Amino acid sequence: MRELEEKILAEGRAVSEDILKVDSFINHQVEPALMKRMGEAFAAHFEGRGITKVVTIESSGITPALMTALALDVPMIIFKKQPSKILNDDLYQTVVTSYTKETSYELTLSKKYISENDHVLIIDDFLANGEAATGVLRLLRKAHATVAGFGVLIEKSFQPGRAKLEEQGIDVYALARIGKMSAGHIEFLPEK
Ligand code: G4P
Repeated sequence: MRELEEKILAEGRAVSEDILKVDSFINHQVEPALMKRMGEAFAAHFEGRGITKVVTIESSGITPALMTALALDVPMIIFKKQPSKILNDDLYQTVVTSYTKETSYELTLSKKYISENDHVLIIDDFLANGEAATGVLRLLRKAHATVAGFGVLIEKSFQPGRAKLEEQGIDVYALARIGKMSAGHIEFLPEK
């Protein structure tokens, strides 16, 4: 999406070869009109797949997921990060380790919000190592739901996230794909 690429070039900050700060329009301050157009772009791409729910992981995935759910007119579900396992039969849980942040958490979903009848679109802000998305897939499998696809605002294509998801048969769609970056320099790959 050209508009997102231009915004990244204007306001994003590559703080190293692998971390991009986008605090002024995605991760800290949010630009609602741009977020709305990005949600509409996901909705248009995944239209016609019978999507019944949009899911994401707290916290930065919530705004793009909400805009996508609004455009598709379906509910949005937030997978929560708990510090430790909760003994409760009403929950699905799985451990996710973040390489970027060097932390682990129990990704948690209440059984009542996803069923085997659901066709689920996963939306997130960044695709890096794909660990968070793989955790979401594990929980959706436990719920016997169908995965309609994975949409992400920014894919860091030099990290293994996309390959990890595609190996599992997931259709990945990124609005901006960063092929390479270094302090003060960002290169994009064609959208896919
Ligand atoms: P993954 O998200 O693909 O599994 O990769 P990884 O475990 O390495 O990333 C973990 C967290 O770091 C995620 O946020 C992800 O959005 C964030 N992240 C990864 N790369 C970048 C980057 O270049 N810039 C920014 N700003 N964030 C990045 P999270 O732990 O889920 O937290 P939250 O921010 O959504 O609350």
